[in-house]
Amino acid sequence: MFIWNGGGAWDSVSRTFRSRTKGEPTMTTQPVAADLTTQEMLARILRPNPTETDDPITEIEGEIPRDLNGTLYRNGPCQKILPKGGPGAMHLFDGDALVHAIHFEDGTARHRSRYARTESFQAVEQAGRYCLGGLRAPAEEPLDEPPPAIQPNTNIVPHAGRLLALVENAPPFEMRPETLESVGLWRFDDKMVGMSTTAHPKIDGRTGQMLIHGYQPVEPYVQLYVVEPDGSVSLAEAIDAPWPSMMHDFAITENYVIFPLGSVYFDFEPYLNGEGFLASVRYRPELNMKFGIRRREPGSPTRWFDAPSTGYMFHPGNAYEEDGRILMDACTYEEPQKLLDDINVIRDGSAGTGAGLAARPYLYEFDLDAGTCRETKLSDIAAEFPRLDDRRVGYPNRYGYAATADGAREPGAFFRRITRYDRTTGQSVHRPAVHGQWVGEPVFVPRTVDAAEDDGFTLNLVYDALSDRTAVDILDARAIDAAPLARLWLRERISLGFHGNFAAAR
Ligand SMILES: [Fe+2]
Repeated sequence: MFIWNGGGAWDSVSRTFRSRTKGEPTMTTQPVAADLTTQEMLARILRPNPTETDDPITEIEGEIPRDLNGTLYRNGPCQKILPKGGPGAMHLFDGDALVHAIHFEDGTARHRSRYARTESFQAVEQAGRYCLGGLRAPAEEPLDEPPPAIQPNTNIVPHAGRLLALVENAPPFEMRPETLESVGLWRFDDKMVGMSTTAHPKIDGRTGQMLIHGYQPVEPYVQLYVVEPDGSVSLAEAIDAPWPSMMHDFAITENYVIFPLGSVYFDFEPYLNGEGFLASVRYRPELNMKFGIRRREPGSPTRWFDAPSTGYMFHPGNAYEEDGRILMDACTYEEPQKLLDDINVIRDGSAGTGAGLAARPYLYEFDLDAGTCRETKLSDIAAEFPRLDDRRVGYPNRYGYAATADGAREPGAFFRRITRYDRTTGQSVHRPAVHGQWVGEPVFVPRTVDAAEDDGFTLNLVYDALSDRTAVDILDARAIDAAPLARLWLRERISLGFHGNFAAAR
C-alpha cells in the first residue's frame, strides 16, 4: 500500500524539472514524485484535507482578470473522521462533502470551505469514530440507531437562489450560497417520486429551467423533475425504464430529455441480503446500452433506443436537436467491468493499470423518425469531466472542454491536460500539465453575459505533487495552450474531487 504522509518513494528522489509546456516557468530542484505510479499519484491526490478555511488568496502567479467576478463552487469527497485503515481503505465515492467557494472580485480572490453538515456527518463528528461505515470500510463500533449516511460530495449547483450539494443516493442538500452554511435536505417541496436524485442536473442554457433525474434499484427505476427559474417544482414524474442501472448523468435538448441506461445493472437483491452496495452493482454485457428519450412536457412517454454496443458512461457532454435528430456527445467506458474493478480499489493504489478508468469521446446520433441510434468514436484519447459554455446546454455548441489523458507522454495517464474541442474544425487544443501535476474538471465562464461562445475563461484545479499543494488555474478559453492568465495557490490543499460550477456576481 502507498504510504500516505510522505516517506517511501515520495521523499526518496529529487530532480530538476523543467517545463514542457509553452510559457511555463522553470521549476527549481525539489523532491518530486517521479517514481510514483499513476495509481500512487491518484491515491495521493484523493487523500482528504479536512481543514475548513476562509482565507484571502495571496499567492498568485499572473493576474486575475478583472472581468472575472463571481464564485467557483467545488465539491468532492473529504472524509473528516477516517476509518482505522486510513483513506486507502475507503471507496472512491465515499467521504464527507467539503464544499469550496473560490470567490473572485475585482482582481482578488478568496477561498472558503465548509462541510455539508448532514445529520449523519454530525452523528459521526459527535461520536468521533468511523461509526457509519462506507462502501468498502465497515463501520467501527456502529451506532445503535444510525441516521441514513448522506454524503453529498459529488457536485455543487447554484440554481434559483439555492446552492445544492448533490450525490446520487440522496435528495439534494441545501447550503447558503454566500456562507456555505448548511440548511438541510431539499425534497422538491415534498414532491419527490423516488428516494434520491443524481448529482447532475441540467440547467437549460436559454430558459434557466433545471431538469434533474433520480435512479434507484426499485421501481420506479428512474424519475424526472423540473425546477423553474423561480425555484418552484413544475414536474415530478416516474419514468418507465426497462431495468435499474447506475444512471449517473443524463442530457437535455430544447424539447427532449435523454436517459442513458447502461449495462451496469443495479440489483437490489444482494443489497437486501446484506452484501453491500458494491455487490449489487454489476456489469451485464448482455444488456446493450439503451437511451430513453422523451419530450420535456408533463406526461410524455419515453421511447427506448438501442445503442450499437455495450458500454457505460458517467457523463454526457451536450445534446441538441438538428434536422429531426438528436446529437449527443459523451465520455464512454468501453469495458465497464474494468471500470468497476478499478473504481473499487483506486484509493488504495491497487487499481491495476488504471486502464479501466479511461473513457473515450463518442457521438450518439438518434433518428427520431426511424427510432435508431448511431454511435461514432471521436477519439482514442481518454477524456472525462466534459463541459461547455453553460449558455449552450441543450442547444448547438461549437466548443467543449474536458480533462484528458496525455497519451504521447504518459500512456494511460489521464487528467493530465485541459483540452478544448472544436466541433466545426474538428481540431483540439491542449494545455498539458507539467510533470507531477494533475488537473480537475474545467469550468467555462463567459467574459460577459453576452460574450461570444469562446470569449471567456476556463477554471480548473491543479494538484501539484512537487509541493503537495492545490492551485486554481484561469485559462484564456481562446488560448487554452498558453500559460494560465493566473494561477492561484491555495493555502489549504483541496482533494481534486469531482465537479463544480460558477455563479456570476449579480
Ligand atoms: Fe459526475
